[in-house]
Amino acid sequence: METLVIDSIQEASKILLSGNLVGIPTETVYGLAADAFNSEAVLKIFKVKGRPADNPLIVHISEFSELENLVYDISDKAKILADKFWPGPLTMIFKKKNIIPDVVTASLDCVAVRMPLLEITRKLIAEVGHPLAAPSANLSGKPSPTSYKHVLDDLNGKIPAVLKGPNCTVGVESTVIDVSSDKIVLLRPGKISPEDISSVLGEKIAVDKSVDHLVSNLDEIKSPGVKYKHYSPKTKVVLIKGSSNKFAEFVNEQYNAISMCFDEDLQLMKIPSISYGSQSSESDQLQLLFDCLRKIDSFHANVAYIHLSPQVLNLAVLNRLLRASGFNVLELK
Ligand code: TXA
Ligand code: MG
Repeated sequence: METLVIDSIQEASKILLSGNLVGIPTETVYGLAADAFNSEAVLKIFKVKGRPADNPLIVHISEFSELENLVYDISDKAKILADKFWPGPLTMIFKKKNIIPDVVTASLDCVAVRMPLLEITRKLIAEVGHPLAAPSANLSGKPSPTSYKHVLDDLNGKIPAVLKGPNCTVGVESTVIDVSSDKIVLLRPGKISPEDISSVLGEKIAVDKSVDHLVSNLDEIKSPGVKYKHYSPKTKVVLIKGSSNKFAEFVNEQYNAISMCFDEDLQLMKIPSISYGSQSSESDQLQLLFDCLRKIDSFHANVAYIHLSPQVLNLAVLNRLLRASGFNVLELK
């Protein structure tokens, strides 16, 4: 099968309504979409990605009014958050109605829902007339795609089409919070931080332990995605925490190594290096993170050292890097 790069929303909609998959742009990362009401189509997502069947998918809507048809008990807090952050990179987990097939939620009784910011995505959902189930459009375990070219790198020949859109402006996946009970819990950090959510609600929300800790007890895992190694290049990745000088001093001594560092470090580096933006720019780091992780293997190095600044600006950056390295962190003092 040849994967077509298309720019027609109508064409993408036809493919989706015929029970097939389309790579779709969103502001966070590209998604691999299926009609959420078509179980057979949703099953194809798991097959194409090599995704474990117990890892549930996010359902994407184009209007707030579509939510009522999908879930029970939309709390006042959820309404406040939707009002503030939708459309945008926030996913909320609710008790699901039967209209959502079990395959979407891996048989959980809750479903994750989000309304993407990118207008093309919402237009496509409206054109299909059904919500779209979509995980990130990478092979399972690999870094998420932030351009249509990344989608082709992983899925060319495996899906009928990719809807071409802009490069992702956010660059990491949405913030996922559970709003199915009164106690709101953040399960996956994204551009919208726990502090952003807490300040809108006027109360501090909980952050699940797995966000920045290796949780080994499977019973403690609330979001099935966190138990899998994620975002990983094939090359071994080690995070190095410390100042620019300490980082350079350490990695410049290493054999057949590369570095993923900040703009400010580049002049100090004597080994091949790529930058994930300025040390002081949260949005640079979010936007460039996955593109850099995807480039690492092309160096064919023994190991990639990633500079983690002593003051990490965004929990999502830390969370993705911890997972990419399998929680392999070295602190230089
Ligand atoms: O920005 C995003 O969220 C992107 C774009 C395409 O929308 N999507 C995305 O999907 O990142 P995915 O499948 O790669 O990640 C979804 C995460 C997984 O960690 C999954 O375990 C969790 O959300 N999740 C989904 N449904 C859940 C549920 N019912 N309960 C708990 N966690 C859930
Ligand atoms: Mg993913």
